[in-house]
Amino acid sequence: MDAIVAENLLKKYDDLVAVNNVSFRIHESECFGFLGPNGAGKTTTMKMIQCVSPKTSGTLEVLGLDVSSKAREIKRNLGVAPQEVNLDPDLSVFENLVAYARFFDISKKEAAERAEQSIEFFQLQSKKDTLIDQLSGGMKRRLLLARSMINRPKILILDEPTVGLDPQARHLIWEQLSKLKTQGITIILTTHYMEEASELCDRIVIMDNGMILDEGRPSELIEKHLGGNIIETRDSDAVQKCLKKFSNDTKFEVAGDNVLISTSRPQEIMSTLMTDCGIVSTSVRPATLEDVFLKLTGRMLKE
Ligand SMILES: Nc1ncnc2c1ncn2[C@@H]1O[C@H](COP(=O)(O)OP(=O)(O)O)[C@@H](O)[C@H]1O
Ligand SMILES: [Mg+2]
Repeated sequence: MDAIVAENLLKKYDDLVAVNNVSFRIHESECFGFLGPNGAGKTTTMKMIQCVSPKTSGTLEVLGLDVSSKAREIKRNLGVAPQEVNLDPDLSVFENLVAYARFFDISKKEAAERAEQSIEFFQLQSKKDTLIDQLSGGMKRRLLLARSMINRPKILILDEPTVGLDPQARHLIWEQLSKLKTQGITIILTTHYMEEASELCDRIVIMDNGMILDEGRPSELIEKHLGGNIIETRDSDAVQKCLKKFSNDTKFEVAGDNVLISTSRPQEIMSTLMTDCGIVSTSVRPATLEDVFLKLTGRMLKE
């Protein structure tokens, strides 16, 4: 059975279509990512799955249960780390976890045990009795994740779990999430960081303006849309004119001041750019999901 099935799911806020007829299936035990820029409709989709925001139309089933009629049962099986840090500032790390456990009818003793385990798993031992204000951004995010595990959920929903963190703090979280993946839990993750989606997700959808533009394994999407490599060079009329000489298997997009050329023949294109077009500075790198997004939308994920 699939963990989540959405068909023609639509969400409107008055006249604004936030999620526009999307369909997707999330398998049990996979890590499934929604990659897209701010405003794409990721959080709105998560809120419908969590049964806290009603869908406008379409079907949405979580663990085989309809979100419109089985909210209580669904919520028991979900763990949620929201995009906004909504920890209780008057409580310590440990107390935040125990207080949250009350929503799930977990006994005091059991809650304390689970809180200890979660604190250890997310490496917050030294902060157990610290108030929230004194935690770093990365620690707050780790506590949100620890809290989402307290009811031993079948499905974890992580809405931008590393937003705003520096690379080191982000990597620490990725390591722990990779461990969770091996435990068979279904993880649904939203992000606008393409590295995060590539690193953690088995499959992703690329979302923009409420719509799903494509879906697949990160590596498959890169292969399908771009093939091998990206050559980057400064944009100019001369470069664009020169590039038009190449055949169809060499495509380019302009991103800011640069031209990104996707090609399976990087050496050949590089040497032509240099010898025939007089371009001196070029670099070549593997294609990424950011390049896929640029190709699909003409824009970057992060503006
Ligand atoms: N409660 C709301 N009321 C009205 N519009 C909303 C509300 N929540 C989100 N939106 C709008 O819906 C669109 C999708 O937002 P959201 O789901 O938060 O996107 P994302 O999480 O991908 O950044 C945006 O245009 C946003 O402004
Ligand atoms: Mg969001």
